Amino acid sequence: MNTPEPFKIKMVERLNVLTKVERKKKLTDKGYNVFKLRSRDVFIDLLTDSGTTAMSDEQWGAMFETEQAYAGSNSYYKVKEAVSDIFGFDKFVMVHQGRAAENILFSQLVSEGDFVPNNMHFDTTKGNVLHKGGTPVDLVIDDAYNTGKEVDFKGNMDIDKLRKFIDEKGSEKIPVIMLTVTNNTAGGQPVSMENIRKVKEIAKEHKIPFFLDACRFAENAYFIKKRERGYMDTSISEIVKEMFSYAEGFTFSAKKDGMSNIGGMIGLRDEKLHQRCTELGIIIEGYPTYGGMACRELAAIAKGLYESTRVEYLEYRIGQVEYLAGLLREAGVPLVEPPGGHAVFIDARRFLPHIPPEQFPAQALTAELYIDFGVRGVELGTCAFGETDENGNVIPAPFDNMRLAIPRRVYTLNHLKYVAESVIALYERRDDISGLERTYSPEILGHFMSEFKPV
Ligand SMILES: Cc1ncc(COP(=O)(O)O)c(C=O)c1O
Repeated sequence: MNTPEPFKIKMVERLNVLTKVERKKKLTDKGYNVFKLRSRDVFIDLLTDSGTTAMSDEQWGAMFETEQAYAGSNSYYKVKEAVSDIFGFDKFVMVHQGRAAENILFSQLVSEGDFVPNNMHFDTTKGNVLHKGGTPVDLVIDDAYNTGKEVDFKGNMDIDKLRKFIDEKGSEKIPVIMLTVTNNTAGGQPVSMENIRKVKEIAKEHKIPFFLDACRFAENAYFIKKRERGYMDTSISEIVKEMFSYAEGFTFSAKKDGMSNIGGMIGLRDEKLHQRCTELGIIIEGYPTYGGMACRELAAIAKGLYESTRVEYLEYRIGQVEYLAGLLREAGVPLVEPPGGHAVFIDARRFLPHIPPEQFPAQALTAELYIDFGVRGVELGTCAFGETDENGNVIPAPFDNMRLAIPRRVYTLNHLKYVAESVIALYERRDDISGLERTYSPEILGHFMSEFKPV
């Protein structure tokens, strides 16, 4: 039985339905890049779960009530209380979103020629490491690249690869080891507590700071509760506390498990690093007690952090992802298995085996899904993570997935049923779908700005 929504709907937003001809024109005009569409031209928007959460009445209420001040608003102190209570961190720097946290932190830690190991970097994390002259290195377990293989903690860092990498490069060239929970890039896949603990031990052994990219910490904690031996009877809050207890710091986008539409932070234990990040934050983001946001946004985060850690909410949330995945699986659609915490990932290489990675199968699938049905997903594959050689040839990413990210508390199961039926209809006529040629590609963060035309 599906876990029903642990809330009821108080306010709704009208959806717009265009015709297929209208959608085709809109997407062609935008170079087949769904990021460039106007959201009103999208029927069901599964582009991202980031910043798209439907907030609760308690969050909206807190937003109205908060003091609006340049310095020292009560909402900052409410966030401080929540951060200490939930993460066990007393020092943090507020920023307007996760990538600002990455920018500030890496400005302090990463220098030209450094390496940053991670289970798998998200695109902005990768972009920020590169921007400081560092090299991002993905050391996730090999199973993460085998989309069909069912593994409980497919987001885990490969411990042997990590040890080998440190021996090879030397710890002085590695200013930080990161672990992304959950691993968004390869399917929203969780990391086990055992793996977090082992990465921490290695980091400690080599005196390298260990940080979490904690965007989806609550979803990760839920998987630990459900799948890891010894945690079944542990509460989500206790699991979260333990996860964070191993880290010297974390970067966080509150647009995910902060249940907010904007916001982020860097959590730190080191006094000096905290001071340096705070001071840089003032130049880039604003005074520490608002961090680039209106104080009402902080009020929403303070409440949201507690809401995302309620087990009945997580049960419903992960249940929605499983519901959509279940309908697709039944029809034979190739998925990243098992489905992760925030999205269903469709393996476009297996969905469209006749389209080579150089012709962006996941981008082609994303375009067709929008044109035919008004559903917006996103490519996470060769456009987002691939590279280009000196002759302009595309070097494919290790996978080509289309992500259907489910915004928190936004869509009903009926919406998701429509999405499943749309994808299944495309699967039935998959041989008619052709690849794309990239006509424009920026130097970094390709999928936001690239443009394409049909081959
Ligand atoms: C794992 C991960 N890290 C970092 C970020 C960046 O966060 P933001 O979009 O708030 O800048 C994201 C955003 O999707 C993410 O999924």
